[in-house]
Amino acid sequence: MVASLGQAVRHHWGLRDDILFLNHGSYGATPKAVLAEQRRWQALMEENPVNFMRRVLPPALAQARADLARFLRADPGDLGFVENATGGVNAVLRSLGFAQGDEILVTSHGYNAVKQTVHFIEEKSGAVIRIAEVPFPLDGPGAITAAVTSNLSDRTRLVILDHITSPTATIQPLKELIAVCKSEKRLVLVDGAHAPGMLDLDVPAIGADFYTGNCHKWLCAPKGCAFLWVAPDRQASIHPTTISHPFRTGFAEEFSWTGTRDASAWLSVGATIGFFDTIGGLPAVRAYCQGLATEAAEMLSSAWGTRIGTPASLRGNMATIRLPERFRDIPAQTILDELWERHRIEVPVHHFGGDPWVRISAAPYNHIQEYEVLRNAVLAYSGTASDRN
Ligand SMILES: Cc1ncc(COP(=O)(O)O)c(C=O)c1O
Repeated sequence: MVASLGQAVRHHWGLRDDILFLNHGSYGATPKAVLAEQRRWQALMEENPVNFMRRVLPPALAQARADLARFLRADPGDLGFVENATGGVNAVLRSLGFAQGDEILVTSHGYNAVKQTVHFIEEKSGAVIRIAEVPFPLDGPGAITAAVTSNLSDRTRLVILDHITSPTATIQPLKELIAVCKSEKRLVLVDGAHAPGMLDLDVPAIGADFYTGNCHKWLCAPKGCAFLWVAPDRQASIHPTTISHPFRTGFAEEFSWTGTRDASAWLSVGATIGFFDTIGGLPAVRAYCQGLATEAAEMLSSAWGTRIGTPASLRGNMATIRLPERFRDIPAQTILDELWERHRIEVPVHHFGGDPWVRISAAPYNHIQEYEVLRNAVLAYSGTASDRN
C-alpha cells in the first residue's frame, strides 16, 4: 500500500514535472479528479443559474455539509462552510463582544493573519492581545502548556490555539491546553487550518467552543473550502462576517448563504474525501506522509548537522529543520529565491527566534529523492540567485 504512493500517484495532480513541490502546507494542491468534480458543478450552475441557486444548491450544500460532518465526526447542524480558516477566525472574533481590558491570548507560534484579526478587534473594542511566548525548538509538549498557562488571567476572555502551528509545524497538545484554558467566562477557538486530512479528527471531542479548519490544505479540496464548527451552546452569538438573507434563521443556515458566490469548492468536498480511497485510503496516506516527513527530516538534519524543531510525537506531515549556522544572517527571502531560481524547489524558509528554519511538507505525491535535492542545494548554497536581484 505505502510503496504505491509518491511518484506512482503524482499523475493525479497537475503539478509540473520540473519543480520540486515541498510546500503542500501553504495552499495544498488539488487532484485533477476533484477539480473535474468542481468544474461539473460550475457547468451545472451556468446551465441555468436561477434554477441552480434556488433549487439545486440548497440540497446539494446540505449533502456536502453532511459528508464533511461525517468525516469530522460532527453534527451537520454545528458546521458552517467558510472560504478559509482566516474567514472562520474572523467570523468568531467579529461576532463575539469584547470590552475594554479583555484579553485575547494567542501564542508566539500563531498565524500572522489571525493575530492581525485580533489587532483589528483591539482597535474596535479596547480588548488587548496577549502573546504567550512558546520556546522553539521544542523537546516536548510541556513548554507549550506552561507558556499558555502562565499567561492566563481573570481578564482572558478568549484563547486562540493552533491545532498545528504554521511556522513551527508543531501539533499542539490541545486536550491539555483546553483543560487548563476553558471556563465559564473563557472561550477557546482552535485554528485547525492544517488539521483536516493530516490528523484523524473528532472535532466535538476536542472540547473547544469554536474550531475552524481548511479542507484545501491536507484534504486537497479545491481552494476556498473550509469550515467553522461551533459548539451548540455558543451558536446563537456567532454569525458569518457577511450578513445576508438567512440572518436569525439558525447557525448553519446563516453560513449557507452569504450572497451570490461560486459554491463549487464546498460542493466538491464529498468527492475530495472519496478521492483518497482511489490511492489506498486516508489512513495509509497519512501513514505514508508522516513516515516520509520523518525520514526526510532525519536525513536533512543529519546531512546539515542541525536539529529538527520538534520531537516526532509533535509532528504530522510537516517538519521544521534548522538550516546550517552560515544561513543565520541571510534573509529568508534570499534563501528562498536561490532555492527556487537555481533549483526549482518550492519550500518555505523563515527565521524563528533569530534562527533560520526550513519547513518541509510531505504530501502523497512526494518521495524521498526530492528532499535529497533540497539537502544538496543547501549544502551547495552560493547566494548567487540573490546577487542577480
Ligand atoms: C495555522 C494557520 N492558520 C490559518 C491559516 C490561514 O489559512 P487560509 O489562508 O486558508 O485562511 C494558515 C495558512 O497557512 C495557517 O497555517
